[in-house]
Amino acid sequence: MKALILSGGHGTRLRPLTYSQQKQLIPVANKPVLFYAIEDAIEAGVHDIGIITGPNREQVIETVTSVDWDAEITFIHQGEPAGLAHAILVAEEFLNEDEFVMYLGDNILKDGITSHIEKFKKLNPDSLILLTQVEEPQRFGVAELDRNGKVKKLIEKPKVPPSNYALVGVYFFKPVILDACRNIKPSWRNELEITDAIQWLIENGYRVEASIVKGWWKDTGKPEDILEANRLVLDEIEYKNSGKIENSRIIGRVVVEDGSVIKNSIIKGPSIIGRDCRIINSYIGPYTSIGNECQVIETEIEDSVVMENSEVINAGRIVESLIGKNVKIRGKDTKPAGKRFIVGDNSDIIL
Ligand code: G1P
Repeated sequence: MKALILSGGHGTRLRPLTYSQQKQLIPVANKPVLFYAIEDAIEAGVHDIGIITGPNREQVIETVTSVDWDAEITFIHQGEPAGLAHAILVAEEFLNEDEFVMYLGDNILKDGITSHIEKFKKLNPDSLILLTQVEEPQRFGVAELDRNGKVKKLIEKPKVPPSNYALVGVYFFKPVILDACRNIKPSWRNELEITDAIQWLIENGYRVEASIVKGWWKDTGKPEDILEANRLVLDEIEYKNSGKIENSRIIGRVVVEDGSVIKNSIIKGPSIIGRDCRIINSYIGPYTSIGNECQVIETEIEDSVVMENSEVINAGRIVESLIGKNVKIRGKDTKPAGKRFIVGDNSDIIL
């Protein structure tokens, strides 16, 4: 069994962050979203992993190879982001007629994929799809099920959803899926949709089974999804302190990594403070991740993600924010009192 993990695409719904960062590398609880997928595959016993790269190929390769994984990792370049079924065709040589799990690198599942792999092996269908009930099915691929829970039909982002069962971004396939991907036409968004390829399997008499995801699942496609995934993952962290705490209060499940200094501050869990940070005269948390090498001084930050090497100084109270890498946010008490901005395209600031 192989794994094909997707880490391409432009991530337009996450601009401006994705102008400089590949969306699957955005951190959730200080770990790139993509790493959750790689870890899930390895935990489920899959050690031959192909990673599909796109626009920021070098960034993905550099980040993934900075870790010593218990797996052989092959990078496969998808020249243009022409859809999930297109990614399978690009990976044909890597897949080499083997069974595989395809895992979208911007998805996070609380309980991983081990139980679903077991189900795939036991039922031995041509494809096993993962479904979960959601509030806005029109944002996803949606399954229509019959009375016995059998998959009747799949539709990508339907205006009028036939059910609230969304397709989770993890799919198990036998090699026949390659025939399906070759036989479908691009959709209205000009992509070869995996949903259409699985529908092709159903229509051509192949067996497609469904497995229901019970724990939480998050597709981190939009900024609010990243914040929600951050909350869900932080909800499960354990207390750990390797930093230096001076005259401060640490409340609840907080992780403070090596080399960080917390001075005259309050950190409320669940929260994580990365390596080599300086948190001074500040209040952090709950539900906040501060990346490596950040400085937070004279500021309150709650329910937010701050990425590495950023400075937030004298900034008042910040909530529900997603702050990229190498950002500087500084309050000032000099005249004139007007606010000063250097803000990139597509930024979103609420004052
Ligand atoms: C893709 C799939 C969709 C699935 C979703 C899960 O959507 O096309 O069927 O429900 O991933 O994350 P996309 O993120 O490409 O809009």
